[in-house]
Formats: sequence, structure tokens, C-alpha cells
Amino acid sequence: MRVTVVGTGYVGTVTGACLAYLGHHVTCVDTDETKIAALQSGRSPIYEPHLEEMLRLGGLRGGLEFTTDLASAAAASDVIFIAVGTPPLPTGEADLCYLEAAARSIGTAMDGSRFRVVVNKSTVPVGSGNLVETLVREGIRDVHPEIRQLIQFGVASNPEFLREGTAVCDSLYPDRIVVGTEDPRTMEIMRVLYQPLVEQKFAPPDGVPRPPNVRAVRLLLTSLTGAEMIKYAANAFLAMKIGFANEIANICERVGADAPEVMAGIGLDSRIGARFLNPGVGWGGSCFGKDIHALLHMAGEYGYESKLLKASLDVNTAQRQLVIQKLQEKLYILKGRTIALLGLAFKPDTDDLRDAPSLHIAERLVQMGARVNAYDPIAMKACKEQRGDLKIRYCDSPLEAATEADALVVVTEWSEFRGLDLPQLASVMTKAILVDGRNVFQPEIARAAGFDYTGVGRSLRRPENNPTASMQKVTS
Ligand SMILES: NC(=O)c1ccc[n+]([C@@H]2O[C@H](COP(=O)([O-])OP(=O)(O)OC[C@H]3O[C@@H](n4cnc5c(N)ncnc54)[C@H](O)[C@@H]3O)[C@@H](O)[C@H]2O)c1
Repeated sequence: MRVTVVGTGYVGTVTGACLAYLGHHVTCVDTDETKIAALQSGRSPIYEPHLEEMLRLGGLRGGLEFTTDLASAAAASDVIFIAVGTPPLPTGEADLCYLEAAARSIGTAMDGSRFRVVVNKSTVPVGSGNLVETLVREGIRDVHPEIRQLIQFGVASNPEFLREGTAVCDSLYPDRIVVGTEDPRTMEIMRVLYQPLVEQKFAPPDGVPRPPNVRAVRLLLTSLTGAEMIKYAANAFLAMKIGFANEIANICERVGADAPEVMAGIGLDSRIGARFLNPGVGWGGSCFGKDIHALLHMAGEYGYESKLLKASLDVNTAQRQLVIQKLQEKLYILKGRTIALLGLAFKPDTDDLRDAPSLHIAERLVQMGARVNAYDPIAMKACKEQRGDLKIRYCDSPLEAATEADALVVVTEWSEFRGLDLPQLASVMTKAILVDGRNVFQPEIARAAGFDYTGVGRSLRRPENNPTASMQKVTS
């Protein structure tokens, strides 16, 4: 099929590369000329594992082009995806200005030569599918008022569930594909488009093997509004699950229970499941906060106040603040202290800093008069570019960040942090205080390395009382 993807951000670029890998001819469009120039030369404007290789393979297989010319791309396509940003407005509602501009431009590019499907992949409030249809129609009417009845198209909602850091794997082997539309012809085209993913008969690319349990992927066909709501509900639930783990961890700290142990115990219940139960400094990223705010706003428009969603946001805000409290408990006064942050990205394997807990923590520390050292394997360049206002000293290694610092805080659980030489880190610090905001280290190991260790929801039991302590080795 001929496919256009409008928006070459995290979602659009990965979607375009994967559809091209599956054999479709894809043109990715963006208004940002710098991004398009980078993609044309084979470079991904974002850090995402395997993406550059997928761009190369997509070009070789189905064909993959990049352009700022939406009109020509859309005119030559059977399916046109909208994958533009839907950031929050100050009121919390989703800002649909990019979506509206894209839909209208698609409308002006339409002609009567073929039936086209306009698919909304951006996360949008219920009813946006209808809005897209109206805007496409208006675009058509502006350019072709005389033949507008002859120009046919369908609209579908196809929410995206990829996770940054594992986006290629998530796109090739999704848990499910949700397509919402009221139009049978549109549904059929979407079924054909996704057939290779549903059947899972394609050869996996090197480095992104098919998980052993994936034999076929469920295509869930729904109404337009159902698909739109599924995306918001999924993100709200995931955020709530992490928030729940954090709440329980905070109680564990007080009663002397070990939160990871407790989470392992409840995660084994198949009704609960083990994933998304890691206590930490709270979730971040471009989606959870924005989508919960948008869902709250949408519910409010119908006179419904969701107490659970509101609490989910509050719990997360408080959890970020907890790092500051833990530092105050150890150091009393933060003014003039040097705090080393390990990790800036909102999660590992991405350079995305949108709503990252690290930024909130760094801002608070700077406000309180502390010096902030930071190290991140990937996201420092993005942080320097996007947050030039933030007074952070960027360091080339965890060791440099820790040197003469009064406390070390693990903010992002990059895998390279797990192998850090803790005794060496402790030896170069002014005070060997470790606030492990992601429970990356075993308390006993960190303490044996010389650290005054605090995790999230970790038991304050003495090491000799902990049955697992003797099983750990000191990393050195
Ligand atoms: N990032 C994620 O992990 C993720 C996951 C699932 C769903 N989503 C949703 O997908 C959507 C896109 O998210 P993202 O993170 O990829 O956004 P992004 O901000 O990384 O990228 C959006 C891109 O759209 C481009 N754009 C804006 N208006 C345009 C127009 N009229 N024509 C062409 N290009 C235009 C921008 O220049 C930008 O490059 C959002 O609604 C988001 O909520 C994101």
C-alpha cells in the first residue's frame, strides 16, 4: 500500500519505518525541515534503539521517503496517518492545533482518483475522529467545491501503544492493534494494511527478534470513540498502577516492609501482573500526565469529576518531592550542597525529557541553593539544548558527577548504572549518601560499599536480618 505518515516524532518515525519494513511504500512528512533533512540523510532525530537500522531496512524493502510536502505525499497515498503532537494546554485539555492543521492540509490534497483512509494515531479526546472528518471535508471544499461529493475517504482511529526505548519491538510485536471506525470499507483497508503484523510471518530484523510467545497479534475492531477512549484508559491505568506501587512503597517504609518483596508477592497474582509495579521517583514522559489531564478535562466537560485520576496525578507529584525530603533527612540543609543526579531522561533508552522527574528534582534543588551535577548516557545533549535555563553541571561519567558530591541520586534506571563500582563512587564523595530513586541497587551491597543508602520503600531492617543479604555480592 502507499502510506503517508504526518509527523516524524517518536510515533510517526517508528510507525513509518516499521510499515516500510513490512513492505508498504511510506512517505513521512513533517513541517520541521531540520528533522526531515536528518531523516533524508539516514539519521534519526531522536534516540531510539534500532530505529536508524529500521529506517535503512524500510528504505530497502517497501520504500521510505521523507518530505515537507504533505500535499504530494497524501495525494499519492491510500492510507494517511496523522501522528502529530497533542500537547496539553494550560487548562489540561489536549491542544489539537497540530491535528487540525494536518487534517485540513490532508483535505486540500485530496482528489477523486482513489478512496483514501485518514487514520488518527495521535492521542486525542473522544470525538476527534469526527473533528478530523469535518476538517478533511472542509479542506476538500476549499479546494474542490465543485466535485467535493465525488471525493471519497474514510476516517479511523488507531491509537499507538509503543513505549519509548522499546518502540521498534513494540511496533513489530504489539500486544494488540486497535482500529476504530464506523465505515466497513475503511476497516477492510486497515485490515489489509496490518495483515503482516497480525499474521507475524515476516522475518524479524536483526537485533529485534520476535518474542517467543508472539505468534499472531490480535486486531481489535471498535467504534471510533471506543478506540479513542481505549488509549486514554490504558495510559491512565498504567500511571495509576505505578502510583499504587509508590503508595504501597511509602507505607512499606514506615512499617518496615520491603516494597520490592511486596510487589513481587502481589505481581504473581495473574489478576494483577508483575509489570509496572516498580516503586520509584514517579512516572514522567510526554504521555501519562498529559493524557490523564486530558481525560480529566474531558470527563469534566460531561460534569464528571474523576477522583481516582486526580489522586493519581497528586500521588505522582508527591513522589518526585520525596527525593528532596530524603535528601533533607540526610543532609538537613541543601543550600550549598552538591547533589549528583544519575539519569536525566524520563526513562532508560530514550533521550526524551518531557515531564522528566529529573527536571523537577533539579529545579527544586537549584531553587533551594544546591549545586547539581548530572550524568546521563544519552539525554545530556537534549537537556543542554532544551533546558539552557537550568543550572546543571554536566559530567562525562558517574564518577565525575559523584566526585566531591554530598549525595548521589539515581533518577533513571539506565542499565549501565547497575554495574557501577559503588566502593569507588563512595570513596570520591564528600558524604557517601545514596538516594536510589529506582531501587537499582541492593541496600546491603550499597551499604557494604560504604554508602548511607536509602531506596524507595526499602526495608530499614539491619542487613543481618535480611535473608537475601547473604546472597548478594558487592559490586566493585
Ligand atoms: N511518544 C510516545 O511514546 C507516544 C506513545 C503513544 C502515543 N503517543 C501520541 O502520539 C502523538 C505524537 O507523539 P510524539 O511523541 O511522536 O510527538 P512529537 O512531538 O515527538 O512529534 C510530533 C511531530 O509532528 C510534527 N508536526 C506538527 N504539526 C505538523 C503538521 N501540520 N504537519 C506535519 N508535521 C507536523 C512536529 O514537527 C513533530 O515532529 C501524540 O498525540 C502522543 O500523545 C506518543
